[in-house]
Amino acid sequence: MNEPDQYGVVGHPVAHSWSPFIHGMFAKASAQNIVYRLFDVSPEEFRRETLRLLTSGVRGLNVTLPHKQAAAELVNELTPRATRAQAVNTIAFFEETLVGDNTDGVGLVCDLERNLQVELAGKRVLILGAGGAARGVVGPLLDRDLATLTIANRTPFKSRKLADEFADSGSVYGCTFAEIAGPPFDLIINATSASLQGEMPELPAGLVDEHTLCYDMAYGRGHTPFTLWARALNAGRTSKGWGMLVEQAAESFLLWRGIRPATEPVLEALAQQL
Ligand code: ATR
Repeated sequence: MNEPDQYGVVGHPVAHSWSPFIHGMFAKASAQNIVYRLFDVSPEEFRRETLRLLTSGVRGLNVTLPHKQAAAELVNELTPRATRAQAVNTIAFFEETLVGDNTDGVGLVCDLERNLQVELAGKRVLILGAGGAARGVVGPLLDRDLATLTIANRTPFKSRKLADEFADSGSVYGCTFAEIAGPPFDLIINATSASLQGEMPELPAGLVDEHTLCYDMAYGRGHTPFTLWARALNAGRTSKGWGMLVEQAAESFLLWRGIRPATEPVLEALAQQL
């Protein structure tokens, strides 16, 4: 058998990643001869180490926190959706060209609409965080004709800037956590990395009611600080980002291999593992 084609994910930290499991299942189901590895690379090393991997035979990489914006600056070309986000979660090495794509937004919207049966049009949506993860999902959410999208961040300069970049795409506002105003939101998405430190930012009262879906882009076994916060406020529903993780991975696989693998078997396998 030929040597497998090499892929992987670059992040810091990255040991918690389920991407090797997911891409391993995709490869088996679609008979693709690939290996998929974890690469823990610090921000200082990101540029040099990523270029080294890609010039030493790695055909494609996923990029996760905190490197998504740095990856947008590293590649030679951006797809339209990565240009819009100015953040990259997927790199493909095609004929001497490094192409940067962003599959986070389509992954999130697919999980919300298809797996969780959420209708997004006309909804009031709040995103917590304005880093690389938030950047990828703002455009695809606004394309669903939301009533309003509020982006709140610890560092308000970043949430205001992100909202300004998308001002042409809908009603979008950037603010601090303290400035978030009710009435309760239909959907609250945690796109901060606070739960990695076991933290939940302090938010004003009145943002959650029995209709609110609280969606944590972070994932892991059991509750996160964000889903615990939501449950304490009797949110209608909580969800972690497993579905988004699997759907964005399927879109990355499509870019690399030309096949979009079925996601249901992987979601079922993850549900059993967890
Ligand atoms: P990612 O790719 O996950 O978005 P990132 O680009 O490093 O990673 O962005 C991390 C996000 O989580 C930022 O919005 C960050 O807020 P700042 O812009 O103020 O740094 C947010 N974040 C990280 N730790 C946090 C904490 N303890 N409380 C609140 N927000 C936090």
